[in-house]
Amino acid sequence: MLDKDRMPVHVAIIMDGNGRWAKKRNLPRVAGHNAGMKTMKKIVDHSDKLGIQYLTVYAFSTENWKRSIAEVTGIFKLLVTYVNSELQELIDNNVKVKVLGDYSSIPGDAKKSLEKTLEQTKDNTGLQFNIALNYGGRDEIRRAMRTIGEEIAQGKRRPEEITEELIGAYLFTGNQQANSPDPELVIRTSGEIRLSNFLLWQSAYSELVFTDVLWPDFTPEEYEKAICQYQSRQRRFGGR
Ligand code: FPP
Repeated sequence: MLDKDRMPVHVAIIMDGNGRWAKKRNLPRVAGHNAGMKTMKKIVDHSDKLGIQYLTVYAFSTENWKRSIAEVTGIFKLLVTYVNSELQELIDNNVKVKVLGDYSSIPGDAKKSLEKTLEQTKDNTGLQFNIALNYGGRDEIRRAMRTIGEEIAQGKRRPEEITEELIGAYLFTGNQQANSPDPELVIRTSGEIRLSNFLLWQSAYSELVFTDVLWPDFTPEEYEKAICQYQSRQRRFGGR
């Protein structure tokens, strides 16, 4: 049973298996992403119901540009569909949307819809929904290093000032951007057991839950099962 008093504050999800879900049904890969988008909506809703404060999903990685043009275009079209059809509901539900990743290079219409969503939800105080788009964990750390390096070169900082807190502040989850705590729980669907460049710095102490369920088949019940697994483990942060 889920213990409502011990809910994770931040859950992060690698939504994997859309392509295999489509292949099993002889459908194009984009149909899998479309089904995945519907699952994502349900999980946003359910996170809100469970009182989770931050939900981060891996929607598009820095490596995903290597996929076919049709698939990449399809994913961004879905993003436009999602934000346009959901914006009012996100506002009504007091959800704040943020992006992790440099989204300056995504297709123009997707960027425009996204910016509208960020702007219109920025003062909301309920669930914070972080969408990782053109996101890569190493790229994020590289960017932070570069900014800090530039500040040192300009004499604004000394090397001794580089602390874990400072590095954290310059990540996409830092206080200038998505301002989110580290996730206590990272879930990956579809039976793959790796992090694939997702939240590398932030997941240092996260509990990892892997399920064989393909993302389009992931239900609120499966979600609760993953949270139960998290609750059943004792988190020690390297102490005793
Ligand atoms: C991974 O499955 C999924 C993605 C790379 C895209 C995720 C996108 C969505 C859930 C819908 C769109 C929503 C937004 C916000 C853009 P995969 O294609 O790697 O699956 P496979 O490993 O079975 O091939």
